[in-house]
Amino acid sequence: MQNAALKEMGRDGVYVAFNVAPADLPRAVEGLRALGVRGANCTIPHKEALVGLVDELSEEAELIGAVNTLVFRDGKVRGENTDGRGFLAALREAGVEPEGQRAVVLGAGGAARAVVVALAQCGAEVAISNRTESRASELAREVNTRLGGERVSVAPGEAAALGPLVARANLLVNTTSVGMAPQVDAMPPVPAEALHPGLFVYDLIYNPLQTLLLRTARSRGARGTHGAGMLAHQGALALEHWTGVRGPARLMEQVILRTLGAEATV
Ligand code: ATR
Repeated sequence: MQNAALKEMGRDGVYVAFNVAPADLPRAVEGLRALGVRGANCTIPHKEALVGLVDELSEEAELIGAVNTLVFRDGKVRGENTDGRGFLAALREAGVEPEGQRAVVLGAGGAARAVVVALAQCGAEVAISNRTESRASELAREVNTRLGGERVSVAPGEAAALGPLVARANLLVNTTSVGMAPQVDAMPPVPAEALHPGLFVYDLIYNPLQTLLLRTARSRGARGTHGAGMLAHQGALALEHWTGVRGPARLMEQVILRTLGAEATV
């Protein structure tokens, strides 16, 4: 999607993938700097470690506690995070304004951090439900402390106990890996009978595009969509950091959908 975007933007650039072992991360960053590259993205398991390896950190990356985008400029490397804003852009594109939502976020890992911070910054009420409840409490406490206030709370980690909260929510976000290929028959811990027509389900998973959670939500009258929009938007925002111009998110999402081969929205 990045190469299609660079072509569309008329940029003489190329985006390539490297597999970097954790122990090699500091040397990889220095290598990129020495080579004079404009920027890089990074993903699991490097996002948190990069916080300590950059010269400057954006406010967003600091809040989330993770870096997904590196920008090399004037000999310095800056760490940015475009996941939270990418998530919000995808949500808005799906017709959901995050402001004032009553949201339940499933999961408390790296992806959840960006989503929880983004939603809380928009003034949404956020309840985090995680299999390991201590991780949910830790994330809620940290985000509340950093943003001030009590917008983020902890929800039960067990599906059965989560029902009443989901029944009252209007946004459910799955940030867990449950339902991702190859475990396509798995459903994250949420009771199917709590999914209702007033609920919008955002599943960060994009492989497969139609997870069991999304299919179940649809069968219960809820609306929802998959994570291809967030993937495209975080990439379009990264391109903006590198070139000064936002990448063509729609085209980038089309490339993802063509690659994964299915329809867009539930
Ligand atoms: P990421 O950075 O992609 O968010 P992660 O930090 O490994 O990845 O987090 C994965 C999330 O999915 C966690 O919230 C994890 O729950 P735990 O904190 O209890 O490990 C959740 N998860 C993964 N597999 C799960 C499963 N089978 N059932 C419930 N939750 C699961």
